[in-house]
Amino acid sequence: MGKEFTRGGGKPSFRGGRGGSRGGRPGLGGARAKQKTIIEPHRHEGIFIARGKEDLLVTLNMAPGDSVYGEKRIGVDVGDAKLNSNSTNIVPVLNKIEYRVWNAFRSKLAASIVNGVNSVYIKPGAKVLYLGAASGTTVSHVSDIVGETGVVYAIEYSERSGRDLVNMAKKRPNIIPIIEDARKPFKYRMVCGMVDVIFSDVAQPDQARIIIINAQHYLKNGGGFVFSIKANCIDSTAEPAAVFAAQIQELRQAGFKVKEQVTLEPYERDHAVVTGVYKPLKSSK
Ligand SMILES: C[S@@+](CC[C@H](N)C(=O)[O-])C[C@H]1O[C@@H](n2cnc3c(N)ncnc32)[C@H](O)[C@@H]1O
Repeated sequence: MGKEFTRGGGKPSFRGGRGGSRGGRPGLGGARAKQKTIIEPHRHEGIFIARGKEDLLVTLNMAPGDSVYGEKRIGVDVGDAKLNSNSTNIVPVLNKIEYRVWNAFRSKLAASIVNGVNSVYIKPGAKVLYLGAASGTTVSHVSDIVGETGVVYAIEYSERSGRDLVNMAKKRPNIIPIIEDARKPFKYRMVCGMVDVIFSDVAQPDQARIIIINAQHYLKNGGGFVFSIKANCIDSTAEPAAVFAAQIQELRQAGFKVKEQVTLEPYERDHAVVTGVYKPLKSSK
């Protein structure tokens, strides 16, 4: 758990609750109008902490004025934000910029960050292949993080979720939605380039194989990966720890160097996020 999130030695207060949109005044991120919120860079580049009545994980909204899934937004005067930002891709609109609250109960990537993972490799300017995009809840925050110079190839095979994803991407030019089966990576070779990072959250029994074949097609050597493992969709009778270990072993055999593993309680039960580097270059071993 990152120290910067803990106030007064107590429990971190920035989980945001299960519902992204409940409570608070619309457009003010739930913060009371007179509550002063200070934005500080998170130790993960491109991610921020909004310090107010409670500490919230936030990303800089690439499409100011819009919520993607009912998440709270926090407007900040440009002057204040410039002082506190470590990002260059700030887009001032009417002297304000806007941050979107990133709720760890709604996103396994956010949960892994809150639970202390050291690197997610996703940062401003990164090219990311995102497997299991669903309607784009987490994809939209990844889009905020990578900014205008980055790109997110978002793969989702459900047409229904894919429709929401495509609509969301209309306001975010750095997202390329691809409605295809991630088991067939050759199908998107005309649109997807080589990437710096693969994030995978497909919740399938063959999820290790899915990330492996996508890495073989699109992940550069030395690129990062973030792999969300849902134990009970692989084997609901085995101990989750044994399932995680078997998945990690499969990755290792395919040239993935696993560097970190975090579980996602209290945000998700029996889930782990594993991160590391694909075919590390000699200098980065
Ligand atoms: C757990 S949800 C992803 C949630 C999403 N990552 C988020 O945080 O907003 C898993 C998604 O993976 C998609 N999926 C599962 N198998 C897939 C496959 N073979 N190809 C593409 N998408 C797949 C499902 O349709 C579902 O939308």
